[in-house]
Amino acid sequence: MKINGKHYRSVWPMGDDAFGIIDQTKLPHEFVTLTLRTVDDAAHAISSMQTRGAPLIGAVAAYGLALAMRADASDENLAAMHDMLAETRPTAINLRWALKRMVDALRNRPRETRATLAWTEAAAIADEDVAMSQAIGQNGLRIIKEIADRKPGKTVNILTHCNAGWLATVDYGTALAPIYLAHDAGIPLHIWVDETRPRGQGASLTAFELGGHGVAHTIIADNAGGHYMQAGKVDMVIVGTDRVTANGDVANKIGTYLKALAAKDNDVPFYVALPSSTIDWNLAHGRDIPIEERSADEVLKMTGRLPGGGVATVEIAAPGSPAANPGFDVTPARLVTGLITEKGTCAASPEGLRSLFPKG
Ligand code: MRU
Repeated sequence: MKINGKHYRSVWPMGDDAFGIIDQTKLPHEFVTLTLRTVDDAAHAISSMQTRGAPLIGAVAAYGLALAMRADASDENLAAMHDMLAETRPTAINLRWALKRMVDALRNRPRETRATLAWTEAAAIADEDVAMSQAIGQNGLRIIKEIADRKPGKTVNILTHCNAGWLATVDYGTALAPIYLAHDAGIPLHIWVDETRPRGQGASLTAFELGGHGVAHTIIADNAGGHYMQAGKVDMVIVGTDRVTANGDVANKIGTYLKALAAKDNDVPFYVALPSSTIDWNLAHGRDIPIEERSADEVLKMTGRLPGGGVATVEIAAPGSPAANPGFDVTPARLVTGLITEKGTCAASPEGLRSLFPKG
């Protein structure tokens, strides 16, 4: 994607001993890039959410493990750094998927070749993520076109939650990839952007992306989506996901479940877009997905721009009140209209998933 005319991916190699990311904690107020030189830099970037989004943290962890191999390519370090990176965020399965793929590629290879092999494998993971996002975009575009054909000349209104755009992947996005392609194809679109409390990924990241691409959008409070659905102002919902279990249950940013319930009650189609690296074939049900509990500060404080231009964090709650902050919730498969993947769109069910991915 382009920022001020320059093409960026959300992660990129710098030579063969460092890589770059966009510091997403600074958006939308500042566009800052970071150079990560060690595996500890990569782990910190993931846990502090300088880099975030399920597919992207997988790619960043892969580059992080490659940096670890440059420092020490022993079996012991490979295992230890795998485990350390896997602990940085618990819910998104892409992180573990990418780390397993790295270990599988390196385990039986001579130590002196591991650093180079690891760098190549991390780059392959990143490139494949881009290709999967592009294919998801094409498959989702078909669904948006069908809706557009049913209301010729009128705007298609799509609601999305959190950020599942190019900032959450290596490029293009999952939920937002079909939206970008539909916009580029000339389909009139308007996106309802859930602000996505507590961290505000919708207001700060999705709105930043859509504005940069020229897609019409409106930021709404998370609680407004049901109201707009009742008013007939939402034609479809598309969200991303951090983990889909073998039965089609979907973990995504906290609040997604309530959107799915409201969509069901209003006959609004609710789609989930994902690369196959997000499917956890080893978990039968969504209730077994570990849900990340994040800092209470994310609920009790907000960061924003001051009238003078500086950026500050302020307290917004009654002093002394505690807060709870689950980062994700699980939407049961029965509320999902379809899963949009790089292989096509399927029902959120074991049969649906197997029809597209017979080998798992
Ligand atoms: O906590 P975050 O910002 O990493 O959560 C991101 C989401 O919930 C996204 O919707 C999900 O990772 C899919 S990204 C293509």
